[in-house]
Amino acid sequence: MSIQQPVRRITAPELRARKGKEPIVSLTSYHAHTAAIADKHVDFLLVGDSLGMVMHGFESTLPVPLDLMIMHGRAVMRGARKSLVVVDMPFGSYEESPAQAFRNAARVVKETECGAIKLEGGRRMAETIRFLTERGIPVMAHVGLTPQSVNVFGGFRLQGKSDDAARVEADATAVADAGAFSVVLEKIPAALATRITRQSPIPTIGIGASPDCDGQILVIDDILGTFTGFRPKFVKRYADLGVATSDAVAAYAAEVRARTFPGPDHVFHDKDATK
Ligand code: KIV
Repeated sequence: MSIQQPVRRITAPELRARKGKEPIVSLTSYHAHTAAIADKHVDFLLVGDSLGMVMHGFESTLPVPLDLMIMHGRAVMRGARKSLVVVDMPFGSYEESPAQAFRNAARVVKETECGAIKLEGGRRMAETIRFLTERGIPVMAHVGLTPQSVNVFGGFRLQGKSDDAARVEADATAVADAGAFSVVLEKIPAALATRITRQSPIPTIGIGASPDCDGQILVIDDILGTFTGFRPKFVKRYADLGVATSDAVAAYAAEVRARTFPGPDHVFHDKDATK
């Protein structure tokens, strides 16, 4: 019998201390087996509410319920051993008041044992970020394109263009002042992301932002080519597992139809039955 040695997980303060140092690598993660694979290569895994679109076929992240985030968060925690696991707060679970946010974020932390939560919003969420942080819940903030506001933005559009840059900058400053340990900058001009990264005391995590950010995040299914519903321009595909999956299923289907599966290597022989 072997007893697995516990591996110490990266903590939110350790990630915070990476500001301006070695780039922070992160991906989204939704289930245990891919978490176990990605865990070896990343610093943190985000159980993003993008799972609503990527795993469950919704057109936006808005329908995702808290219980679903908790279920996926638990799966990722079972798969990952050393990465910090951050769980997204879904739409409607935190915006009403700091008290509502604490009640739901505490449930996420208790039931998943994740190391931090993420929520969307800048200045408007500053009070809540302070409330959670002071009560023991590390918060990763998210400004720029915040997908839960898709209906206000009128689509998944670039944010912070020239006359709007000051708004995103003020949001990034507000979340750092409020005690967030890190901030995601999504889909904003590269020059703005670079400027925010230079000014901010906390690590910036870019997605469609700038290579100068303190770290990067992408949706895992986007880099693997397993989610083809929607492909933002900033995504780079590192594998084509969607095509590989289709080829594998087609090959299996052809063998079943030709009655060549199961073949001699895959059937039970009488001698196996006596074992
Ligand atoms: O939900 C998500 O996956 C995210 C990342 C894209 C940052 O918020």
